Amino acid sequence: MTNQTAKYLVTGASGQLGRLAVTELANKVPAGNIVALVRRPEAAASLEALGIEVRIGDYGDPVSLEKAFHGIDRLLLISSSEVGQRAAQHANVVSAAHKTGIGFIAYTSILHADTSPLGLASEHRETEAAIKASGIPYAFLRNGWYTENRTGSIAPAIEHGAYPGAAGDGRTSSATRQDFAEGAVAVLSAETTEPNAVYELAGDESYSMTEFASAISAAAGKPVSYSDMSESEFASLLEAAGLPGPIAAMLADSDAGTAKGALEDNSRTLSRLIGRPTTSWRDSVGEAVTASGAI
Ligand SMILES: NC(=O)c1ccc[n+]([C@@H]2O[C@H](COP(=O)([O-])OP(=O)(O)OC[C@H]3O[C@@H](n4cnc5c(N)ncnc54)[C@H](OP(=O)(O)O)[C@@H]3O)[C@@H](O)[C@H]2O)c1
Repeated sequence: MTNQTAKYLVTGASGQLGRLAVTELANKVPAGNIVALVRRPEAAASLEALGIEVRIGDYGDPVSLEKAFHGIDRLLLISSSEVGQRAAQHANVVSAAHKTGIGFIAYTSILHADTSPLGLASEHRETEAAIKASGIPYAFLRNGWYTENRTGSIAPAIEHGAYPGAAGDGRTSSATRQDFAEGAVAVLSAETTEPNAVYELAGDESYSMTEFASAISAAAGKPVSYSDMSESEFASLLEAAGLPGPIAAMLADSDAGTAKGALEDNSRTLSRLIGRPTTSWRDSVGEAVTASGAI
């Protein structure tokens, strides 16, 4: 059952996951009950075209958040993309939610946040602690890796015949942004929500990067193999390819965490939430290969 009367607000609504979540929410509850938060006024028009009220707020500006949260019952806090500033930004969101009497926060955290070795996990742990300390009822949506993180590198992998990484034999249970958006909305809009629940969300099937490269090869009809290297070698390679140093280091750290099993989860909690299997990673590979123009 869906809560049709609550007033919902989705943050990060101009982003890739946020837009999917707003669209999915609009399939379930009246559009008039949905507010989308964006920080750039120019991002409003396409959301308003869906019949959604758009409010302007920046995670770095507590006053703008308090204004935007007026009258909201249930909040989906989609984690900020500004790595390094996120803990402070999310703390602003939690504080504004507390001041404005928001009754429920669903927060997109990271898979196994409490034990994850990924450097990215520390800001999620800080945010989970801030939400708990606020006393606001919550759900932690501990999202695993987006399949799109991996399929985004398919074109150069086909070109070079190699998919580089530092994930070793580690397995990834990734799911698509659409899968995660549907999971988030299922929890956010549920008529009865388990109090203070923690959801470890991941794809139904896991894969090693060797299997991933082999699937690219099969779909493209060209040889592509996984090229495993050390974390520092992978960071240097990403930097040489043009990524800023801190981003390259973060991605290499995430691959090293993958090698330790940080992105594997076999609970199938996400497919239970969305009422269907998660999107097959092999299908995503096939679609990305086709979109790359390689075949
Ligand atoms: N699970 C994974 O594999 C994975 C991968 C990548 C990211 N993530 C996390 O998941 C989040 C959502 O993913 P995504 O793909 O939708 O990312 P995205 O497309 O980069 O969207 C990020 C959203 O955060 C907004 N934002 C950033 N800083 C803000 C600020 N100071 N105030 C208000 N809004 C701000 C952005 O607004 P603008 O449009 O104005 O920039 C955008 O709407 C990311 O932000 C990141 O924390 C997870």
